[in-house]
Amino acid sequence: MSLSHIIQNPNHKIGFLGAGNMTTVFLRRLIESNTLTPKQIMVSNRTDGKLQKLKSTYDILIANTNEQLVDECDVVIIAVKPQDFNEALEPIASSFKPDQIVISLAAGLALNSLYKIVPNVRWARVMPNTPSRIGHGVIGLCTRDKKDVGLEEYIKSLLASLGTIISVESEEDFNTIMISSSSGTGFVFELMSYWQEWIEERGFTAEEARQITVETFFGASLLAQQSPNISFVELVSAVASKKGVTAAGLDSMRETEVERALRISFEKAWIRNQEIAKLV
Ligand SMILES: NC(=O)c1ccc[n+]([C@@H]2O[C@H](COP(=O)([O-])OP(=O)(O)OC[C@H]3O[C@@H](n4cnc5c(N)ncnc54)[C@H](OP(=O)(O)O)[C@@H]3O)[C@@H](O)[C@H]2O)c1
Repeated sequence: MSLSHIIQNPNHKIGFLGAGNMTTVFLRRLIESNTLTPKQIMVSNRTDGKLQKLKSTYDILIANTNEQLVDECDVVIIAVKPQDFNEALEPIASSFKPDQIVISLAAGLALNSLYKIVPNVRWARVMPNTPSRIGHGVIGLCTRDKKDVGLEEYIKSLLASLGTIISVESEEDFNTIMISSSSGTGFVFELMSYWQEWIEERGFTAEEARQITVETFFGASLLAQQSPNISFVELVSAVASKKGVTAAGLDSMRETEVERALRISFEKAWIRNQEIAKLV
């Protein structure tokens, strides 16, 4: 199936195998951004409840079986947990059309392993993070066949409403994006909870402390985004005057090796990702 055939067909269909959290995020963004109409989206699921809920919310198409989904859709997005992958795909492996576009959202499952489960299709991996829900995600993208000109651009345009899509050559780089952006979002929330806790200890209500924290992180991010030519080191210097209040806090951050602690967190996440990959 050629890409131009898919792109030029205004009724081409995108299928989601699995109707869980991530599919719900994708549906909302794709429909609200008018990237796709509800009738261009089909979903299948192991059990019926979530399917009916998605149908009543978005008026999308429902597939009675995974085979029907694969048969009727031009692009199939596999949105089941990594441990459910084999059970979901092996029975329907022969239903895929040669060169069909198949996108995996699973962590830990490498493109070559995916190709072994379903060969002769155009596999790509996509890794969204939770801010994708509001269109501010950082989304990793890696295609199996680097010579497949156009596939990367097609997926980028399909998923543009979820956020910034970073396309990489290797799965090592894909994992770096996953840990820094997907796990990283969790790390940032953890830091935010420390901020909120300290402000509350100083007598502010939880609501006030949360607002101060969120606006501090948001303002800092926005300032960095709008100052692309100013490094983080320079942005730090702009806050801290010599022997001043901020400098005292920064000195302590360096003495207590906050950077080392964070680096260890990244490395531990990296190691865990490799362990999980072996289990799947
Ligand atoms: N959540 C995140 O923030 C996030 C971020 C990045 C990537 N991901 C990846 O995205 C994928 C989906 O995650 P999720 O959080 O959306 O999981 P989820 O909420 O658990 O949804 C998975 C869905 O797959 C369905 N399913 C399982 N086996 C099936 C089968 N054989 N046939 C059809 N449907 C089947 C489940 O059906 P039942 O209703 O019957 O259980 C469930 O609705 C995972 O690979 C995950 O690693 C998630």
